[in-house]
Amino acid sequence: MKYTTLSALALPVLASAHGHGVAHRARQDDGSAELSDANAAGTGTATNSLPTTISFSLITENPTAIPISDIRTGTAQLQSTIAISTTYAAGARPTQISSAAGLPDALALNPKDYPTLDKTPPTDTPEVQEWISQVMNSGVDIPDIPVTNPGGCGNNTAALANAAQNCWWTCGGCVRDTDITTCPTKDSWGVSYDDGPSPYTPNLLQYFDQEDIRATFFVVGSRAISRPAMLQDEYMMGNQIAVHTWSHPYMTTRTTEEVIAELGWTKKIIHDALGVTPLYWRPPYGDIDDRVRAISTAMNLTPIMWTRISADMTFDTTDWSIPGGTSTAASVLDKWNLIMGNSTKIDTGFIVLEHDLFEQTVDIATGYILPQALAHVPKYNMTPIIECLNMPLANSYIETNDNSTNPPPLAAALANRTSTSGSASAGTASSTASSSSSSSSGHSGSGSSSEGSTSSSSGAAAGIAFNSGLISAALGMVAGASALLF
Ligand SMILES: *[C@@H]1O[C@H](CO)[C@@H](O)[C@H](O)[C@H]1NC(C)=O
Ligand SMILES: *[C@@H]1O[C@H](CO)[C@@H](O)[C@H](O)[C@H]1NC(C)=O
Ligand SMILES: *[C@@H]1O[C@H](CO)[C@@H](O)[C@H](O)[C@H]1NC(C)=O
Ligand SMILES: *[C@@H]1O[C@H](CO)[C@@H](O)[C@H](O)[C@H]1NC(C)=O
Repeated sequence: MKYTTLSALALPVLASAHGHGVAHRARQDDGSAELSDANAAGTGTATNSLPTTISFSLITENPTAIPISDIRTGTAQLQSTIAISTTYAAGARPTQISSAAGLPDALALNPKDYPTLDKTPPTDTPEVQEWISQVMNSGVDIPDIPVTNPGGCGNNTAALANAAQNCWWTCGGCVRDTDITTCPTKDSWGVSYDDGPSPYTPNLLQYFDQEDIRATFFVVGSRAISRPAMLQDEYMMGNQIAVHTWSHPYMTTRTTEEVIAELGWTKKIIHDALGVTPLYWRPPYGDIDDRVRAISTAMNLTPIMWTRISADMTFDTTDWSIPGGTSTAASVLDKWNLIMGNSTKIDTGFIVLEHDLFEQTVDIATGYILPQALAHVPKYNMTPIIECLNMPLANSYIETNDNSTNPPPLAAALANRTSTSGSASAGTASSTASSSSSSSSGHSGSGSSSEGSTSSSSGAAAGIAFNSGLISAALGMVAGASALLF
């Protein structure tokens, strides 16, 4: 194992916040898991209706896992973190992509050259103006769909009425056939983690290294400029790097110029840190409609969602809502059990929503979800999403993509337009029973679970998912050690 625990990084405040430090204890062999620890309730207010015991038997777990009862709801949780395995010299090349350029020098990147963290970047800068003009001159029609209000379906009467027409995923789960939502081959899992790189990402990478797992990381631009060496480690270990916007907004609430700024800066920081430019992205909270879709096509980004087979079965573990208090470790593992159950009932493979932003989400992945997946019968073929689509890792990026077999989305859209003689359609709406039935069944606002519970009518959902002090607490705790970390 190439990682070592750096106890020097366990700051005093952490030691007291997490009494047992990094001492993990093995759990009983029979795999039964019970939560009796009052600590598990944390300070969350919404935990009463959530399970505090998991209702299925764990087949297996990581022997060094954090006990389930120590994965706390309703609070930021700050254990000691570990260092990334390796820092890479400028010019190093990823072994898995022979044609990639050498790595840029991560130390040369200066956050001052990038927009303010966690805010939609201004649109009047030269970079963004250039990207806007590229989009406007791309040949892709950007439909004139109004921006949505914050607050999802419940706060958007007009957009809700047009949700099916505009293929607004948030209210009804509509997807176009240009969106990636599954892996084609049964029992293949296109593994992904969103919202990093975070201080907990190396814990996840360590487990990947130990178990020979690779995944797709949908990275937030603000996080990437904060931790470029960690992004390089993800990339050099053979993971797929994809865009998850600069500041993680609900993209349909942003103007076209702002959407361009969010995507453009994230493409740029990834290119500046890795020397390659992603061809794939995931909209935060799944919040995409035909306007946002068209902009992303014009910017050569293909959307990757997560599998949704019905209004009440979206492959979202809801791990992201443990710190905010609307999920518990037990409810996430119960949901994961239902996802595994449903995965064997569908004819395709699948894509699941998980996160590497918070300690809890990484602890539950490395301790429970991934060990369960590795032990699954029939065996899951776990790969980055690009590989579950039967493509080489190189097709993740503009510079190394095989353009003849995987036309980039802009070229594909333009070729399609020509061949369908001027049709402005961005594609046909998915006709699965699930999306059309829920698109037309009144959208009570609870039809689609999502990355940020966008279907709830409360703007608080966004706060829980991303904007609250939990994030700064989770990320800020390493401020004093940032020089050591990256
Ligand atoms: C609903 O939309 C209005 C108009 O944009 C906004 O001012 C308000 O904050 C939104 N409400 C919620 C709960 O997000
Ligand atoms: C599939 O998901 C549905 C909805 O959550 C659930 O009721 C059902 O039990 C799941 N199926 C399996 C086999 O787990
Ligand atoms: C695919 O096209 C892009 C953009 O024109 C180019 O940079 C890249 O080198 C091409 N890929 C290959 C493998 O030649
Ligand atoms: C091409 O057009 C067809 C028919 O409108 C559509 O189903 C398909 O998704 C389009 N493909 C692309 C890459 O836009």
